[in-house]
Amino acid sequence: MSNINALIEALPKAELHLHIEGSLEPEQLLEFADRNKVDLPFKTLEEVRAAYEFSNLQDFLDIYYQGMSVLQTEDDFHDLTDAYLKRVAADNVRHVEIFFDPQGHTERGIPFDVPITGILKALDAAQERYGISYRLIMCFLRHLSEEDAFKTWEEAKPWLARIHGIGLDSSENGHPPSKFTRIYEAAREAGLKLVAHAGEEGPPAYVYEALDELKIDRIDHGNRSLEDDALIARIRDAGITLTVCPLSNLSLCVVDDLKDHPLKKMLALGLKATVNSDDPAYFGGYVNQNYRETAEAVGLTHDDIITLAKNSFTGSFLSAEEQAPHLEAIDRIAAAH
Ligand code: HPA
Ligand code: ZN
Repeated sequence: MSNINALIEALPKAELHLHIEGSLEPEQLLEFADRNKVDLPFKTLEEVRAAYEFSNLQDFLDIYYQGMSVLQTEDDFHDLTDAYLKRVAADNVRHVEIFFDPQGHTERGIPFDVPITGILKALDAAQERYGISYRLIMCFLRHLSEEDAFKTWEEAKPWLARIHGIGLDSSENGHPPSKFTRIYEAAREAGLKLVAHAGEEGPPAYVYEALDELKIDRIDHGNRSLEDDALIARIRDAGITLTVCPLSNLSLCVVDDLKDHPLKKMLALGLKATVNSDDPAYFGGYVNQNYRETAEAVGLTHDDIITLAKNSFTGSFLSAEEQAPHLEAIDRIAAAH
């Protein structure tokens, strides 16, 4: 194993950009379809894998929402989340801040309480089972209306003590952050953390809106910020974290080749980038694979890898006290490698 790959494996890491519904592996998709008697257009693993070829975000989202249809019960959501946690424990992930898409479930008649109960059951057991801490972020689907978002916000109210933040995902173009300014105001007043997908496919103007109107604490993706020098300077000077997802960017043709991925450039510009998997079952890899393939493609150094691992904790919503032991462990491992 190369020195860089050994370092990637050894480092404790946090994952800050992960859609739990996007961790639904083909095997589990077929298993849940079978146990819930859901009819899918594919019957074999080969057929499922063949469907996981995308040319843009919308292409992927169509398959992603179709895949969700097999998730029906609390146990399904528990098993899905537990499988993800078990998998990333093997990558030495020690903290996760995961998204879920309640509207992807309530829209098809699954009550709000079902996904969140199952997901939290797995997350609450994760410290003891896998040594993983967590935060839970509820995303709003931006292709739906503000009114729909407020309906979901009302359903979430009894759960606000268990939800740490809100996010914004789904089809970006044509659905600017400003569509949800009032939802973000309500969440801010409730004391929640705020993140949003911006600048994945959408223009730099959407990143400005996410900062100025939604007043977000962290940017999901943010790749297209690099088209605007003033925006780069602003994100750098404010120390705002970007949750970057290289293999997702490759699958969705945000970059044509991993060699063109801007991660190294982001670090060189002083931006606080992190490495994440987004929807690992669909995009071909969990966290370590994202590190490994990107390190090889763009030539990440030992110091780059250390910076990325540290950013994953300092960019998390853990307190400074909670971050400290992870940062110390990273320093120890960095010195030994
Ligand atoms: N972008 C937008 N919406 C999403 C994504 C993504 O990468 N994954 C799941 N929902
Ligand atoms: Zn995402």
